[in-house]
Amino acid sequence: MEKKALAVLASGRGTNLQAILDAVAAGQLRVDVRVVISDRGDAPALDRARQAGVEAIFVNPRQYSTRRDFDRALIAILQERKIDIIALAGYMRILGPEFVRTFPRRIVNIHPALLPAFPGLEAQTQAWRYGVKIAGCTVHFVDEGVDTGPIILQAAVPVLDDDTPETLAARILVEEHRIFPQAIQLLAENRLQIEGRRVRILPAAPDQD
Ligand code: GAR
Repeated sequence: MEKKALAVLASGRGTNLQAILDAVAAGQLRVDVRVVISDRGDAPALDRARQAGVEAIFVNPRQYSTRRDFDRALIAILQERKIDIIALAGYMRILGPEFVRTFPRRIVNIHPALLPAFPGLEAQTQAWRYGVKIAGCTVHFVDEGVDTGPIILQAAVPVLDDDTPETLAARILVEEHRIFPQAIQLLAENRLQIEGRRVRILPAAPDQD
């Protein structure tokens, strides 16, 4: 089967992007990482992409007067490259309805909390402040809300008494790096069936040698 074309959108340091690139290099994630796009010119994620020989594009939001125009610029880049799957890996900008509708069931996001708890920014700090005993991360489809789409995979970690927001975030990040490539692989294999809010994971197709 031909590999699906993946685009990764990232705003920052890009460790989730790196986990994706490493999983591809290890043969665990069988996609073609075709482009990495950032809304920040200085994002280390762009360097990680270049290091891996992947096209890296900075789209400057300041060059567009509305979010809609900015989103349309992204849509054009993605359509030109015939992207099948879009992974939001620490992408800190909300995608508008036009973007989301252009790629139905093809956009996935990693969020550093057990949704629906603690959506939005600094989720690990929100969880730590709230005093939960279990924290974690979620990979979900992106819909028109903020962190509200159907859940694909989640992983839990304990919150320890002497944790700081930073130590908790680091523990969660290890799990992010594990489940995000897994979820993308499931989507690439067409094994995710959305039933309302639920996502059913279908069994793997038998090997076709
Ligand atoms: C990750 O923890 C990711 O879950 C989070 O940003 C971090 C990016 O790190 N995303 C969000 O908070 C989205 N709302 P990275 O750039 O090293 O992958």
